[in-house]
Amino acid sequence: MAEHNSALGLATALRPVQPVTLVRPHAAHRAARFFVEKFPGRSIYAVKANPSPDLLQILWDSGITHYDVASIGEVRLVSRTLPDATMCFMHPVKAEEAIEEAYFTHGVRTFSLDTMEELQKILRATRNAEDLTLCVRLRVSSDLSKLSLAAKFGAEPEETRDLLFAARQAADALGICFHVGSQAMSPDAYANAIEVVRAAIVDASVTVDVVDVGGGFPSWYPDMEPPALERYFDTIHRAFESLPISYSAELWAEPGRALCAEYSSLIVRVEKRRGTELYINDGAYGALFDAAHIGWRFPVKRLREVPTVAPFEAFSFYGPTCDDIDHMAGPFLLPADIQTGDYIEIGMLGAYGSAMRTGFNGFGSDETHIVEDEPMQSLYIEEAEPTAPEERKVVSLDEHRRQAGQ
Ligand SMILES: Cc1ncc(COP(=O)(O)O)c(C=O)c1O
Repeated sequence: MAEHNSALGLATALRPVQPVTLVRPHAAHRAARFFVEKFPGRSIYAVKANPSPDLLQILWDSGITHYDVASIGEVRLVSRTLPDATMCFMHPVKAEEAIEEAYFTHGVRTFSLDTMEELQKILRATRNAEDLTLCVRLRVSSDLSKLSLAAKFGAEPEETRDLLFAARQAADALGICFHVGSQAMSPDAYANAIEVVRAAIVDASVTVDVVDVGGGFPSWYPDMEPPALERYFDTIHRAFESLPISYSAELWAEPGRALCAEYSSLIVRVEKRRGTELYINDGAYGALFDAAHIGWRFPVKRLREVPTVAPFEAFSFYGPTCDDIDHMAGPFLLPADIQTGDYIEIGMLGAYGSAMRTGFNGFGSDETHIVEDEPMQSLYIEEAEPTAPEERKVVSLDEHRRQAGQ
């Protein structure tokens, strides 16, 4: 992988015809160190957010030793890439063959479940193993998050007593887990979910060894400016400490987005302009799935060596395929004089965007370069003076535009 100083330098030097993925190893390292040093428990990286082997290696080298895997493909990937890593198979609905291979071939001992049926499956597939950590997933609200994960998984309160009891009898260690939804915009999401955990523990009167607060830790996108992550950690720590569990109980989290959003961005080229619609060479079937399908807005920056003084205007994007749905409504704020041939950097695509790319219609490319400049926004860069009132640790979009001469 070639290395460049900056996104602007790369676009100027290479004038790439295909979309180019930029990766920033230093940003992933910084995020990982932040979680390792500040989260008051164990951080388990949710591989689905970005399964790039390079990224897995960076996280490992930065101190992340545990990985949340959701499929046998992810189990094999982590096993191959990081043979000494510990994996937790946290998808509540697994193929029996996947459980068996994970346990016997790859040494996985931690599994999640939300039904008796899944518990039976795990016990059959592992031949009643006696060294399992079984995490019962509870259904909790996604109301404070941008992306709901409340409908599909999680035991209901009336089911949890029997399930916890049965899992306690089968497990070496018993855990309770949940997911508050992705991009949780308030620490209260976790405090509320931990209250659901408390009620379940009291109701079932079981000894719990692990409380796993799942993923959901936010990143920074336009119009989605979360409080500082330390506030999430403090809230979780306080709520965890107040649970009726033993002193030796462990606190776990499964951050995906927060560990990798800043890791990568994308350079696209404008192929056509129609009013305020820009036809670019990546889209809904590329790294911009979330921008198209759930209306997610990502930060954008025009990459031009000689800046203009044009005011900002709101644009939407069309991707390169023939489908009408290959459309990203935005709005994306770019200089009003942007035109065909201009390059745009689209930021914060390290989580999910990079992972969901396809080659549909013959578009897309695997071209990837390392860049040393900072991501367009960051939750992890310490500012000399925190911005009141949220004490947010971010590089503001305005600041980046000033730096980019836009
Ligand atoms: C079980 C589980 N853990 C962790 C994650 C990561 O979530 P996030 O990227 O919001 O941190 C997910 C995402 O879907 C998940 O399903």
